[in-house]
Amino acid sequence: MRIGMVGSGYVGLVSGACFADFGHEVCCVDKDPAKIAALNRGEIPIFEPGLAELVAKNVREGRLTFTTDLSGAVAAAAAVFIAVGTPSRRGDGHADLSFVHQAAREIAAALAGYTVVVTKSTVPVGTGDEVERIIRETRPDADFAVVSNPEFLREGAAIADFKRPDRIVIGAEDARAAQLMTELYRPLYLNQAPLIVTSRRTAELTKYAANAFLATKITFINEIANLCEQVGANVQDVARGIGLDNRIGTKFLHAGPGYGGSCFPKDTLALIKTAQDYEAPVRIVETVAAVNDQRKRAMGRKVIAACGGTVRGETIAVLGLTFKPNTDDMREAPSIDVIRTLQDAGARIRAYDPEGMAAARAVLSEVEYARDPYDCARGAAALVIVTEWDMFRALDLARLKAALARPIVVDLRNIYRPDDMKRNGFAYVSIGRPK
Ligand code: UGA
Repeated sequence: MRIGMVGSGYVGLVSGACFADFGHEVCCVDKDPAKIAALNRGEIPIFEPGLAELVAKNVREGRLTFTTDLSGAVAAAAAVFIAVGTPSRRGDGHADLSFVHQAAREIAAALAGYTVVVTKSTVPVGTGDEVERIIRETRPDADFAVVSNPEFLREGAAIADFKRPDRIVIGAEDARAAQLMTELYRPLYLNQAPLIVTSRRTAELTKYAANAFLATKITFINEIANLCEQVGANVQDVARGIGLDNRIGTKFLHAGPGYGGSCFPKDTLALIKTAQDYEAPVRIVETVAAVNDQRKRAMGRKVIAACGGTVRGETIAVLGLTFKPNTDDMREAPSIDVIRTLQDAGARIRAYDPEGMAAARAVLSEVEYARDPYDCARGAAALVIVTEWDMFRALDLARLKAALARPIVVDLRNIYRPDDMKRNGFAYVSIGRPK
């Protein structure tokens, strides 16, 4: 089947490459000529394990192409995906749909023959109706249907998540479109991924509900971690103890510095706004967003407390800047708030991240960047682990201790064991575990 993918960002590129790998013919479109030129040279603008190889293979085998020519890609396609950005609108937290609306207008103008237009971007309930209205207004003669097909992939594990999803959600208002989508996904549900075919509004809401629920799970365990610290309990054992109950599940119960990234903060906020607009407030999610916001700065204060109450004039070493490992994405990363809190308290920051330092330079000021974890620790009053990159999990502890001015380690991801760290001579502080 021929697919047009409008928007060659994270979701568009991964979905496009995976659909091509399943044998479809995919043309990825982007407005940015530099991005398309780079993709045509085989350069991938994002860091995602396995993506460069997958793109190269499918380009070589002729199933994946890149272009700035939206009209050509749309006219040839049976299904056109809208995978453009939906950032938070400045000021009110609603999702900014201007890129989606613009894409709808341009797609409308190019439609030729029956085409299914699919919103893959995370869009508020009712956006499918709006896209349909825009297309109909632009091209009253067009033969098309608008479908919602939210994407649930995680950065860093995007290809595996796309190819082996827990489920596929398709929101369609007519049988022909649902049938075409079912055909498109056949290679996936033959691998036994459940296919949920439902209404468009239900599909749109499902995406937000999923992200809000996951954000709630994380925030719940983070608050339990705070309580563990006060009562001398161990949050990892609590998480396992509750998670092995199948009704709860063990995933997304890792206590940490608060969730970040391009999805949870933005999507919880957008859901809160939509719910307020419809006078059906989601008060749990409102609390989750507020608690998570406060937590990131609280983590900076935790470091200051571990240093004895002041960091003024001291150098603090920070390991891990991206919002999670295996990405170069700094959006809403907890490291930003941790670092700013420490800087506000008079600390100098030296940081190291395997992939995120270029992006970090654009958001953080007055940070010195190190060559490696040991260079980062050099002469520092404390070392803070903010992101759990694998390379930080087995550091040479003797070398680290020798590099630090004071052997204080604040591990916001619990990647070391308190007893090991104590034995190696560190003052070690982690999340929700007895010292
Ligand atoms: C998230 C969802 O997991 C995906 O299902 C969804 O498709 C995606 O958003 C999206 O809407 O596009 P992502 O933002 O890539 O994916 O990253 P996650 O792995 O979910 O992590 C988000 C944040 O939560 C990170 O800061 C991570 O460190 C934190 N987290 C996650 C925890 O603090 N504890 C956990 O147990 C899990």
